[in-house]
Amino acid sequence: MTKSHTPIPFIDLKAQQRVIRPQVDRAIQRVLDHGRYGFGPECEEFEQALSKFTGVQYVLGCSNGTDALTMLLIDLGVGPGDAVFVPAFTYIATAEVVALRGATPVFVDVDVDTFNMDAADLKKAIKVAQEKELKLAGVISVDLFGQPADHDAIAAVAKNHDMWVISDAAQSCGALYKGKSTLQFGLAATTSFFPAKPLGAYGDGGAIFVHDDKLKRRLENIRVHGHGVNPASIESLGLTGRLDTIQAAILLEKLKIFPAEIENRQKSADIYNEALSKVVHVPHISEERTSVWAQYTVRVKHAKQRDVLQDHLTGLGIPTAIYYKRPLHVQRVYRYGLLDRCLENTDQLSDTVISLPIHGYLRESVQNQIIDGVLGFFKK
Ligand SMILES: Cc1ncc(COP(=O)(O)O)c(C=O)c1O
Repeated sequence: MTKSHTPIPFIDLKAQQRVIRPQVDRAIQRVLDHGRYGFGPECEEFEQALSKFTGVQYVLGCSNGTDALTMLLIDLGVGPGDAVFVPAFTYIATAEVVALRGATPVFVDVDVDTFNMDAADLKKAIKVAQEKELKLAGVISVDLFGQPADHDAIAAVAKNHDMWVISDAAQSCGALYKGKSTLQFGLAATTSFFPAKPLGAYGDGGAIFVHDDKLKRRLENIRVHGHGVNPASIESLGLTGRLDTIQAAILLEKLKIFPAEIENRQKSADIYNEALSKVVHVPHISEERTSVWAQYTVRVKHAKQRDVLQDHLTGLGIPTAIYYKRPLHVQRVYRYGLLDRCLENTDQLSDTVISLPIHGYLRESVQNQIIDGVLGFFKK
C-alpha cells in the first residue's frame, strides 16, 4: 500500500470537479431551465469557443470522436475497395470507422520514439496497397498520447498520391504543431471529449473542425440523419451525431480552465522526464511540437520487464495502464489490413510501453510516490 493509504487515481477527475463544481452545477441548471436539450444555445457557444481556441473557422460539436470520423468518411464516400491508411498503434476507433464503411484500414508502422505514424512506412504501405489493387483514398493521422503527428511529412506523402488526410486529434486537443493547433491539419480534424481525454465532458462528446463552409453544411446534414434542420429534405445518409446541450454546457466551463491544466500537465511531464530518464525511455517530443500529455508513456526493455514493473507498481497502489498491449494489426478482425507486411516498431512498442498517472491536478507528493515506486523497481 501507499504511505498515505489513499488510492492514487490514474486520472483525477474528482480533483478537477472540486475546482469547477459550482460553475458546472449552474451551467447544468441553466440547461434544465431553458429545456433545449439538443442544439441548445450552449452548443453554438461551445463551437464558437472551440473555434477561438483552435483557430479553425468552423467547428461542429458532435456525439463522440468516433462519429466525428464516421461523418467525414460518409461525406467522402469511402467504401469497399478503398484503402485508408491508419497507424497500427492507436485506439481502435481510428481503424474501426474505416472497416465499418466496408473499406480497408491499411496499417502503417509508427516511429518508435514519438509513437506516431512513420511517413516513410506510409510510402511502403501505399506501394503494397497499389500492388493489391486497392484504391488509394486517404490517410487518418493520429496524435498519439497528446503529441502531434508529423503533419507536414504525412501531408506531403498523401498529396503525392492525391489522397485526403483527416487528423484524428482525439488525444491532442490543446497541442501545437509548428505553433498551430492539431485541429487545423488535414482536410478536416476530429477530437473526442470522452471523460478521460485532456478536455473531457461528463459523458460522450466530440467535434469536427473544417475550413470549408460547403463541407460544414454537408456535415450539419449528416449530423442529423442527413437532413440537418429540415426533416423534409434528406440530403444524404447520416446518423444521430449531435453533441447534447448539457455536455456542451459542461465543456464550456471545462474549456475555461483547460489552458492552466495543460500547463500543469507539462510541469508534471517535466518532473517525470527529469526523474526517470536514467531508468526508462521517457517520451520524446519532437521539435516544434507541444504535447497535451493525454498519457505519460515510458518504454522499458522488454515485455517481461514491463509486466513485472506493472505488478510492482500495482502492489504499491500505483495505477498504470498499457496502451496498447495488442495492436490493431494482430487483432483477428483487423488482420486483413496488415497486407502481409511487418510492423516492427508497433510490435516492439506494444511489448514495452507503460503509462503512468498524469492529469492537471497531480500533486507533487503523489508524483514523488510514483517516481519512487518506479526508481525502487530498478534499484532491486
Ligand atoms: C485516437 C482516438 N481516436 C478516436 C477515438 C474515439 O473517440 P470517442 O471515444 O469519443 O468515440 C479515441 C477515443 O478514445 C481515440 O483515442
